[in-house]
Amino acid sequence: MELSTIAGQSIPTFPLYSTDEKAIPLLGFGTAEYPFGASIHTLKETILEAIKLGYRHFDTAAIYLSEQPLGEAISDALRLGLIKSRDELFITSKLWCSDAHHDFVLPALKKTLQNLKLEYLNLFLIHWPLSLKPGKYEFPFQKEDIVPFDPKSVWEAMEECQGLGLTKSIGVSNFSCKKLETILSTAKIPPAVNQVEMNPLWQQKKLRKFCEEKGILVEAYSPLGAKGTAWGTNRVMECEVLKEIAQAKGKSLAQVCLRWAHEQGVCALVKSFNKERMKQNLDIFDWKLTADESHKISQLPQCKGFPGAAFLSDDGPYKSVEEL
Ligand code: A2P
Repeated sequence: MELSTIAGQSIPTFPLYSTDEKAIPLLGFGTAEYPFGASIHTLKETILEAIKLGYRHFDTAAIYLSEQPLGEAISDALRLGLIKSRDELFITSKLWCSDAHHDFVLPALKKTLQNLKLEYLNLFLIHWPLSLKPGKYEFPFQKEDIVPFDPKSVWEAMEECQGLGLTKSIGVSNFSCKKLETILSTAKIPPAVNQVEMNPLWQQKKLRKFCEEKGILVEAYSPLGAKGTAWGTNRVMECEVLKEIAQAKGKSLAQVCLRWAHEQGVCALVKSFNKERMKQNLDIFDWKLTADESHKISQLPQCKGFPGAAFLSDDGPYKSVEEL
């Protein structure tokens, strides 16, 4: 992977495939909190703080309720001169499952852009390989709302969004190798990104190899295990091997996880709404893990934090975690 840095910033960037997009900063600021919208009234200020600290890549989604505060923070950052132009930012949002129907994709993106007060996204992702009956935006959702997902027609609509210039690039999230194969078999524009759960306890080795071969950048969500959320556990933050490595290096366990993700060639998306931890999480680019430390991490027993039981149903497309 060739790395370059944005002027004045310490975060390395990587050029995305199949897009005219300049480059994606390889550390992003996650805005999903649990429950969604829990600190909606302070989120704008938190994001402004993140911009001040040097974050330039922000990850949101229609379902997170963070699009509007992010949009307000961007407007304020421009007004305050923290950034000179919107082009200095990399903004990702995601299509919720109830809009994962061909004719709903473009209106959903337009609504997202309206929430963000932006003319274009840098990256628009299909949030899950699943469709829900249109009209409701809720998570968890009702199993009876799960309806057949047609990847071909949804992806065609995503391609139209890129063609219209409303997003610079398109991709997917939570897609397995098999589901990526399905998209790739008909895609005119291949997905630039697959955003998935990834951390030392769920390393995604097979999926990462597949994505590398296809030129798809992997983005890691829950790089610290997302403790305290419906999709995370304490296991990563309580892992003894990681604690020992962190202690020996004089780094925090979170920094070890983020550095490890970086050294695997992926883009990590980390969420902290605490100023000190936001700062700490940026401080991962001028030191390395040793071969021995990387080896110890590679040997950790694997356990998925979010098996996705909510997405399984007897009548829907996925009856088991394996199928999902
Ligand atoms: P907080 O927002 O209070 O900092 P993930 O990025 O895997 O989803 O994990 C997010 C969780 O990890 C949040 O609970 C966040 O809490 C916490 N977190 C983020 N950065 C750090 C850090 N450097 N040290 C400890 N906990 C962190």
